[in-house]
Amino acid sequence: MRSRPRSISITSGKGGTGKTTVTANLGIALGILGKRVTILDADLTMANLSIVMGMHQVKTSFLDVLAGKADLSAAIYENHGIKIVPTGFRFEDSHEALSKAKRQRVEEAINKLIQDTDFLLIDAPAGIQDATIVSIAAANEMLAVCNPTYTSLVDAYKVIRYANVIGAWTRGVVANRVGKRAELPSSEIEQFMGKTLGSMPVLAEIPEDSRVQEAELEGVPVVVYEPNCAASVAINRLAKVISSEAALPQISDRKESLAETTRRLARALTARNV
Ligand SMILES: Nc1ncnc2c1ncn2[C@@H]1O[C@H](COP(=O)(O)OP(=O)(O)OP(=O)(O)O)[C@@H](O)[C@H]1O
Ligand SMILES: [Mg+2]
Repeated sequence: MRSRPRSISITSGKGGTGKTTVTANLGIALGILGKRVTILDADLTMANLSIVMGMHQVKTSFLDVLAGKADLSAAIYENHGIKIVPTGFRFEDSHEALSKAKRQRVEEAINKLIQDTDFLLIDAPAGIQDATIVSIAAANEMLAVCNPTYTSLVDAYKVIRYANVIGAWTRGVVANRVGKRAELPSSEIEQFMGKTLGSMPVLAEIPEDSRVQEAELEGVPVVVYEPNCAASVAINRLAKVISSEAALPQISDRKESLAETTRRLARALTARNV
C-alpha cells in the first residue's frame, strides 16, 4: 500500500541560508531512493529554483497558473528524475500573480500536486510574507534551514515559532554551510531549540562545500554534479532521514549552558539592532 503523500515546506527566517539548494538536491536525493517527488517553487518574487535545476528556459510557470493563464499540468516539468513546478522571474508577472495570488489558488495547486507524488517539497520564500505563510500552512511539515550563526538561529527560531502559531509542524532544522564559519555548533542549535520549543532535532549538518557553487554555475544540482562531495553525501543522508531510512545524525553532545547561549544570542541581536 502506498504511504500517505507528504508535503514539506522548506523555509528560513532570513534569505540566502540555502533553502533552494536544499530543496532541489533533497528532492533529487529522494528520487534516487525511488520516491516520487514534486518540487514547487513558491518563491513568487525571487524564484531561483529553475537556475539550480538547470532549467533556464521555462515556457509556462507557476505564476501563469496563479494568474489563471495556464493549467497546472502545463507548468509541471520533469528533470533529474523528479517533477518541478518552476516560477518565472519576470517582475511584471510576479507582481501580477502576487496581486491575484489568493491563498485558495496556491492551496488548490498544492492539493492537486500532492495527489500524484510521495513527497511534495515547497521552496518557500524567506521570512513570513504572504507566500511563505501560505506555503507553510498548506504543507504538513516544515524544515527550517539555518546557518551556523547566532543571528541565523534567531531567525530560524522566529520562523518556527511562527509556524507553530499557524498550526504547522516543524520536523526539524537543517544546519547548512557548517564548517568554515562554524561560529555555532549544531549541538547548541539543538539545545537552544529544545529548551525554547520542546524537542527540535538537527536533521542534517550540510558542510560548506565549494562544489555547491561550482554546480550552481554549471546549472547542475550538486548531488548530480558531484555525488561524492561532502555536501552531496550530507544531503543524500538527509533524504534517508526524511524518508525514515536512516536515524538522525549524531550531534556531539557538548552541553552549553543556556545562560551562555542566551548571552551570545542577545549579543547577536543587539549587534543587529533588532
Ligand atoms: N553547503 C553549501 N556550501 C557552499 N555554498 C552553499 C551551500 N549551500 C548553499 N550555498 C550557496 O549559497 C547561496 C545561497 O543559496 P540558496 O540560493 O540555496 O539560498 P536560499 O535560502 O534559497 O536564498 P533566497 O532566500 O535568496 O531564496 C548560493 O550561491 C548557493 O550556491
Ligand atoms: Mg531560494
